[in-house]
Amino acid sequence: MTKSASETAEVREGLEGVLVTKTRLSHVDGERGRLIVAGRDVEELSRTHSFEAAVALLLSAAGEDVVVASVERALAEGRAKAFARLSTLGDALSRRDAMDALRAAVAHLPEESTRGEIIASVAVFGAAWARLRTGAAPIAPPTGASHAEALLAMLGGVRDASRVRALDAYLVTVMDHGLNASTFAARVVASTGSDLVSAVVAGIGALKGPLHGGAPGPVLEMLTAIGTRERAASYLEAELAAGRRIMGMGHRIYRQRDPRALVLERAIEELESALARATASADGALDQSARDRLSLARAVEAQAERLLEQRQPGRNLRANVEFYTAVLLSALEVPSELFAAVFAAARSAGWVAHVIEQRRQSRLIRPGALYIGELPNRADQT
Ligand code: COA
Repeated sequence: MTKSASETAEVREGLEGVLVTKTRLSHVDGERGRLIVAGRDVEELSRTHSFEAAVALLLSAAGEDVVVASVERALAEGRAKAFARLSTLGDALSRRDAMDALRAAVAHLPEESTRGEIIASVAVFGAAWARLRTGAAPIAPPTGASHAEALLAMLGGVRDASRVRALDAYLVTVMDHGLNASTFAARVVASTGSDLVSAVVAGIGALKGPLHGGAPGPVLEMLTAIGTRERAASYLEAELAAGRRIMGMGHRIYRQRDPRALVLERAIEELESALARATASADGALDQSARDRLSLARAVEAQAERLLEQRQPGRNLRANVEFYTAVLLSALEVPSELFAAVFAAARSAGWVAHVIEQRRQSRLIRPGALYIGELPNRADQT
């Protein structure tokens, strides 16, 4: 008897190594540890482009006719609209988890919302959630500010030029990253002909998971629990012995250190030295704990690399973007509960660009599964 197609099909769990589409947006080169976004290496892009400029570049790569000024305007208008909408979100922003709140709040947006409003809403709703949870009133986005500056302002934090630059570098660095799980989820929704808000809600749902966007909070908890570099090895050994994963280490695609980890590490160094030069001002230097955290993070990373290499020789489990996200965002005094939401504020631009690209391809994404359940007991199958 000849085998059916489903019996001979190869199952690729987790779709690893499967190419399901073509994209002009970004390329993750796992072997070389390289990330190209809209034709630029991420190191260059984060140095030379503001978030608005990078979004304009990404949307242009998706085939849209946009310039930086139009993105700046769309995001500024979007922030104002999103802030005005806060009172219509019911109890969405009172949820305990920031990503849960964000998913519920973004789901309130009408399906005809513009791209600018959707991207801006993620930042505005996230910042409002962080304020409300401490009992404080949300802060309106300042006019004339960039997206990064507005986000710092809405969080009630210090927003001098070096902090704004550091947050901008972060937003650009994580804006897009190939067909990661949340982007794939957004594209699947878009491929059905559904609306942009639904695609972004799907993206938020996928990013919420600890294996995707939820790692930097636990990385910070880990660094806090380790406390000093001398305790790094024993702490990590105990975690691995208990069968737990080291957060911020390993990656599905990178077989080298995630290039974004280096970009963020440098952004923290630059922030440190810029603020050290400005110690005379009231809002001057980073506090000592933020500076200590960078050197602790480096020591913990080195130990984690060593221990993971012993357990998985040759697998090259190295630091991923989340490792230094924790250090950078905490230096900017972003509350750790909001880390994943700030990630979403940046990645929402990537989701939007991918949805535009997906719509142009207009092919329903619908993979198959090998059925291994019971078959009905019918005479013709014997
Ligand atoms: N700590 C401990 N062990 C790890 C690990 C980590 N951070 N990352 C991977 N491993 C182990 C896996 O358990 C697996 O072991 P096994 O073969 O005995 O089951 C082996 O290394 C290979 O894993 P791999 O196939 O490379 O990983 P993956 O593609 O399934 O998972 C991640 C990739 C990112 C989900 C995984 O590395 C992870 O959970 N990291 C921690 C969470 C994190 O930082 N997420 C943010 C990603 S940007």
